[in-house]
This record gives sequence, C-alpha cells and structure tokens, in this order.
Amino acid sequence: MCGRPAILLMLRGRRAAVDQVVPVQKHDLLFMKHFAQVIAGLVTLTVLLIISAWIINARVSPNEDSPARIAQIEARIAPVAAVYAGDTGRSAMLAAQEAARAATAIKVAFDGALDGALIYERVCAACHLTGAGGAPAPTAAAWAPRRAKGLDLLVTHAIEGFRGEAGLMPAKGGRPDLTDEQVRVTVEYMLDKYK
Ligand code: HEC
Repeated sequence: MCGRPAILLMLRGRRAAVDQVVPVQKHDLLFMKHFAQVIAGLVTLTVLLIISAWIINARVSPNEDSPARIAQIEARIAPVAAVYAGDTGRSAMLAAQEAARAATAIKVAFDGALDGALIYERVCAACHLTGAGGAPAPTAAAWAPRRAKGLDLLVTHAIEGFRGEAGLMPAKGGRPDLTDEQVRVTVEYMLDKYK
C-alpha cells in the first residue's frame, strides 16, 4: 500500500541525481552535433542530386543547335501554305505539283512491261499452272472451251474477274496494278501457249 509513493520518491531522487551528473548543456551540444551532421548530409545529398540532374539533362536533351533539331523546329513552324510569285515561284510550284503527282501515282506492275510470258509466270501461273481452285489447267483440252468464247470476252473476264462453274477468277489475277493492256497480252500468251 505504501510502496507506490516510495517508488515515486526513488525515481524522483534518481532524476535529480542524473540532472546533476549530466548537465543540460551537454545534451544540447550532443543534439547540435547530430543535427549539424544531418544538415551536412542533406546538403551533400542536394548537391549530388543537382550535379546528377545536370549530367542527365546534358545527356538526354539534345543540343538546341543540332541540325536535326533545327529541321524539326522548322517543320513544326512551317506555314501551311506558301505563295509562289514570279518565275522562280512558278518553277517551284510546278516542281511541287510534279512531286505530288509522283507520290500519288499508282506504280504499274512490272514497270508496264507488255510481256505475257513474264506476267503469266509471276502472277497467273500460281493458279493456272496447277489448276488450283478450278483454274483452267495448262493443257489444250482445258483451254479449248474457253477459247471458243472469243478473245475479247476472255480478256474482259480476266480484267474484271469472273465467277464460272469451276471457281473464281479474281480481277486481273489479284493484281490491280496490272494495266488492261498487260492482261490482254497475257491472255493472248496463254491462248497461244495452250493451243
Ligand atoms: C487465284 C487464282 C487465279 C489467278 C492468280 C489467276 N486466275 Fe485466271 N482463273 C482462275 C479460275 C479459278 C478460273 C476459272 C473460273 C471459272 O470458269 O469458273 C480462271 C479463268 C481464267 C480465264 C478464263 C475465263 C473465262 O471466261 O472462261 C482466263 C482468260 C484467265 N483466268 C486469265 C488469267 C490471267 C491472265 C491471269 C493472270 C493475270 C490469271 N487468270 C490469274 C483463277 C486464277
């Protein structure tokens, strides 16, 4: 029952003793020392971060004056349209038109070659050499009934595509970049070959 006050008294007495042995000033000095160490550490860390940010920035962001960057900027700020004036303007306009036409022109297959044998081998033979999908096989017998339809109709069917009883002949054999004339010489070549 009377033990509690005794303990409190003891504790109080010990605290008083510690206060006497370790002066408050020493505590403060220790704290100041640690605090200064922490601050110094943080300052060093900050400087290190600044330096590394510098280095990374120099590496990552390209030089402002590099030709590639200047070209990029010029493309970004280029006017949407330009005014062509005088003789130089006219030739510049014609050059621009020519470039636009070249860019949009469909490239003709085999550079427009009117070579039935070449086109047959590269395009038509895929089906017609084996008779795949019902294509008339490379024999005179297979072609006799087709020949009877007449060259013009066969050419029309080859150009526009044709679904017969045997299967589907895709338009221009699936090569829309062939000209009509190229298809015609190829049909002529095939009719000639399988006489
Ligand atoms: C994907 C396969 C395939 C390719 C490639 C192909 N053909 Fe055919 N062709 C067929 C088939 C299948 C038929 C038969 C259609 C039918 O009569 O049912 C056919 C039929 C034809 C006929 C006969 C049409 C008729 O009216 O009887 C001609 C001519 C012909 N092809 C020409 C060509 C030419 C020229 C090429 C190349 C530029 C070509 N074909 C490429 C599948 C092909």
